[in-house]
Amino acid sequence: MHVLLTAGPTYEPLDPVRFIGNHSTGKMGYALAETFAAAGATVSLISGPTKLPDPAHPAIRTTRVQTAAEMYRAAEAEAARADVWVFAAAVADYRPAEVAEQKIKKSGDTLTLELVKNVDIAFELGKTKRPEQFSVGFALETENEQAHALSKLHRKNFDLVVLNSLRDAGAGFGHDTNQITLLAADGSVTRFELKLKSAVAHDIVGAVLARLPHSHA
Ligand code: CTP
Ligand code: CA
Repeated sequence: MHVLLTAGPTYEPLDPVRFIGNHSTGKMGYALAETFAAAGATVSLISGPTKLPDPAHPAIRTTRVQTAAEMYRAAEAEAARADVWVFAAAVADYRPAEVAEQKIKKSGDTLTLELVKNVDIAFELGKTKRPEQFSVGFALETENEQAHALSKLHRKNFDLVVLNSLRDAGAGFGHDTNQITLLAADGSVTRFELKLKSAVAHDIVGAVLARLPHSHA
């Protein structure tokens, strides 16, 4: 079984010394890579900038990227041959319209930046998904959580969506724990307790393996 996994944030440059990014640490994605590898899969981990070392497991090949465009190119190159896609990256939705060649100098009292939309990696690859391939997305919502997560599942052709809760203290960005709800294309909804990200990774991998055709499991 071959798994394509995106993880971490993306950094979208503004000038040679600045970027727009987010607080994703990559912990959840790296834990998923380790857990899939431990289950016998080979993993192509496409990682944005993180402070984490490349996972040591020999079945995990890590490719480092900075921007959403780079992450898309790297993921696209692996997508056709992967049995399972997992989109755990916190991809920047927008990037600066222009990247200044020189450091932007301080001038007026306000500065307005123009941003343009980034490629939606999961959406674009979702259009190419074959029936035997399995796609897992993440959703982090602050309102109408399940409805928004389900609409992402349909729009991006996911088979499973991992809804991250922000309601529990200790869940999500920067924490070692996470509280998730799994929503499947068949309509099933499974809520899990707050637990370590390594244990959450086991729950997610277990749910994926249970839904794969038996030839893969
Ligand atoms: N995703 C992606 N490429 C993007 C944006 C998102 O691959 N440019 C993936 C994420 O990795 C995640 C899923 O799509 O698996 C949902 O990401 P999310 O940010 O929740 O969804 P958006 O469609 O960007 O919607 P919004 O941020 O407005 O809620
Ligand atoms: Ca987004």
